[in-house]
This record gives sequence, C-alpha cells and structure tokens, in this order.
Amino acid sequence: MQTDTGATAKVAQPATPASLFTQLLSTTRRGARMARLLTEQQLADWGLPLEGDTAQNAVLIVAELAANAVRHGRVPGRDFRLTLSLGPDDVLRIEVTDARAERLPEPASPEISRDPSAESGRGLLIVAALADSWGVDLSPEPPSHKTVWAELTPRH
Ligand SMILES: Nc1ncnc2c1ncn2[C@@H]1O[C@H](COP(=O)(O)OP(=O)(O)OP(=O)(O)O)[C@@H](O)[C@H]1O
Ligand SMILES: [Mg+2]
Repeated sequence: MQTDTGATAKVAQPATPASLFTQLLSTTRRGARMARLLTEQQLADWGLPLEGDTAQNAVLIVAELAANAVRHGRVPGRDFRLTLSLGPDDVLRIEVTDARAERLPEPASPEISRDPSAESGRGLLIVAALADSWGVDLSPEPPSHKTVWAELTPRH
C-alpha cells in the first residue's frame, strides 16, 4: 500500500485463522452428541457440503475424538472443548481438548480393525485413516489439559 509520504506500508495480516469456532461442552454423552451436531452446523455455515467427503470425514473424526474425551479424558467438574478452524489455505483443523493430561491416546494395532470380536480400539484408527495428519499436544501446566487434533484438506 502507498502512504501519503510515499513509503510502502504492509497491511497487517491477521494471525488468527480465517474462520474459527470453539465451544465448551459437558463431558457426557450429550456433550459428545452436541460436538457432532455443532460440527455439522458450522461446516454448513462455512459452505462445506455436508454430503461431501470432507464434511463427512470431519464429523466422523469429531465423533470419535469427542467420545474419547468423554470416555477416557473425563475429569469430574471439567468440560471438554471442541475447536474447529478453517485456515486461509482451506485446511480444516479439528481440536478436542480434555482435562486429563496424564493419560494419552494410544491407537490400537491395525489388526484390531480386522478382528470382528474386538469391541473397542477402532476410534483412533478411524481418525488416523481419515485425517491427513493428527496428533496430541500436552499442556501439563495447571490447569493441565491435552488437545487431540486432526487436519483435513478439503477435496469436497
Ligand atoms: N482423550 C483421551 N484421553 C485419554 N486416553 C485416551 C483418549 N483417547 C483415547 N485414549 C486411549 O487410547 C485408547 C484407544 O482409543 P480408541 O478411540 O482407538 O479406542 P477406544 O475408545 O478404546 O474404543 P472405540 O473408539 O473403538 O470405542 C483408549 O482405549 C484409551 O486408552
Ligand atoms: Mg474411542
């Protein structure tokens, strides 16, 4: 941009993602269900077709991560947080933050997904299969928490 003095000034770019949604939810089955429904609503608001692969995969990932936050990451009296962000490069980032920092997600071995008698251990394998990348960030400082995140690049 050209200023009055003839100097070239840069327009400051916001450091925040282009679109951000974040919500605290109760660590209950209802909270996990709300996470799914709010994700559908937010993705629709951002113009992502709900029948498209990106939205379908994002909702499945949120469902698994929210179920885990409620089942494995629950600390009585603490909520979990769902955060969705759509970056300027259209990368959709999902974050599910729970208060149980001392216990980490541990994906089962891939054989589990082929074992019809296995009753659990599929959630993170589904996340790993659907997301372009995923991981866990730990924050041990009080109030301690961890964030399980996944990123998707829209292909519609
Ligand atoms: N948010 C979390 N906090 C603490 N531990 C977790 C969390 N998410 C997952 N884990 C651990 O990782 C394991 C694997 O998680 P995963 O979602 O793959 O399977 P599951 O939840 O046991 O079963 P399923 O998702 O198939 O119902 C869990 O059994 C649990 O021990
Ligand atoms: Mg699970």
